[in-house]
Amino acid sequence: MRKILMAAAAGMAVAVFQPASWAADARLAQDEMKEHGCLSCHEAAKKKVGPSYKDIGAKYKGKKTEEAMAGMKGKPVHKSILAKTTDSSLKVIMEWLIEQ
Ligand code: HEC
Repeated sequence: MRKILMAAAAGMAVAVFQPASWAADARLAQDEMKEHGCLSCHEAAKKKVGPSYKDIGAKYKGKKTEEAMAGMKGKPVHKSILAKTTDSSLKVIMEWLIEQ
């Protein structure tokens, strides 16, 4: 019993302390994407209507968050979504997407 509890505690510690390389807030970014309906066109590993997070990450790897934001804003497909999204939400999302 005690061993099981220790294992559970260790598991939780790992879940709470993400590696330091995760600079962007992954959970917040994914919540924002869900809230703004990005998920109806984007998925983590597969192309859906739009490119996967991985493809977006590959395209903007090493580039600035602002460049990814500008790239997204430049696509006409996002017009209606952009009317309902703020730059601060987009920044959180893009910081995370670039790391994918
Ligand atoms: C109606 C479907 C749809 C929704 C909703 C949508 N996207 Fe997209 N997205 C696309 C399509 C299609 C492309 C590819 C456009 C192209 O390359 O011409 C794309 C491309 C992108 C790209 C890559 C831009 C580039 O420079 O290549 C990013 C980043 C992106 N979307 C982010 C988002 C985010 C963040 C949201 C939510 C706020 C979102 N998208 C919502 C369809 C959508």
